[in-house]
Amino acid sequence: MDFTGAHILSIEQFQRQDIETLFRTADAMEPYAQRKKMTRVLEGAILGNMFFEASTRTRISFGSAFNLLGGEVRESVGAESSSLVKGESLRDTARVLSGYSDIICMRHPQAGSVAEFASASRVPVINGGDGSNEHPSQALLDLYTIQRELMTRGRSIDGVRIAMIGDLKYGRTVHSLSKLLCLFRNVKVVLVSPSELAMPETYVASLRDAGHQVVVTDQLEANISSVDIVYSTRIQEERFQDRQQADLYRGRFRLNQAIYTRHCEPNTVIMHPLPRDSRAEANELDADLDSNPNLAIFRQADNGLIVRMALFALILDVAHLVDKYAQDVRWFNHRSRS
Ligand code: NCD
Repeated sequence: MDFTGAHILSIEQFQRQDIETLFRTADAMEPYAQRKKMTRVLEGAILGNMFFEASTRTRISFGSAFNLLGGEVRESVGAESSSLVKGESLRDTARVLSGYSDIICMRHPQAGSVAEFASASRVPVINGGDGSNEHPSQALLDLYTIQRELMTRGRSIDGVRIAMIGDLKYGRTVHSLSKLLCLFRNVKVVLVSPSELAMPETYVASLRDAGHQVVVTDQLEANISSVDIVYSTRIQEERFQDRQQADLYRGRFRLNQAIYTRHCEPNTVIMHPLPRDSRAEANELDADLDSNPNLAIFRQADNGLIVRMALFALILDVAHLVDKYAQDVRWFNHRSRS
């Protein structure tokens, strides 16, 4: 694909070589993300960060990524504080906002909404999550994390064995990640969910068409013993017609250190797109895993910054100029102490 000026709406746009380009660019962003250097390559550019649904990481990391490249960020948070509540169509909103921005990130509760918005936008649009459909930038940072974690174990993405756990029906991160894994070879995917929240058949079929081994189960412990990655997810309560229905599933699949020690191979990587639901009735990843060095969830969140910087740099065609606009960092850097 040609990144320059492209909308990023779905993982279907990507070929394997695009992933390699993106990850190479992301590697080059790391010193900037860690504030070892700064760059002003996007000075004067404006990101419109439009989040019509709850978000912490995705919104702040897109905004910070743009700031770290020297650009400015304007935000709208919550549909209730935008003109969408006055009956404005997504297409009109897109026409207007694309006059104010050089690139737009958008999250919206309706599947397909970001693509509709993008069709009327005059600037590139990145899908920050459209309902239960897709969350492409999350899948890209997840795969980047998988690659980095496996590299320290002398392994690569080809041949990886991964268990995806939790709400696979409404979880958009696992939808996008499944599509992404189809670009690789010889993958084993274990899909652990309550049968009512199983991975939609189309994603399972694509994984099988890619030649991957797929196991579908509603049992956690017996199915995490021969995988390299456990990728846990939250029950997506906001997608249920009746939120109380979500209570039936919350807490069904809990991972803690004792279960990990008993059932997982040593060094199995633990991932989660976050937020993990830490309420007692859910507690899908217990805090007693926090001292487990294989818990990659915060490295995963940090990787979100560099992968999103890379997306901006490629889409706005400045990846080759980032170092040219580099400057020294003047302030005290806490990271260099750790
Ligand atoms: C995910 C999302 O919004 O889909 N969060 C995120 O962006 N990291 C997962 C979730 O909310 O459960």
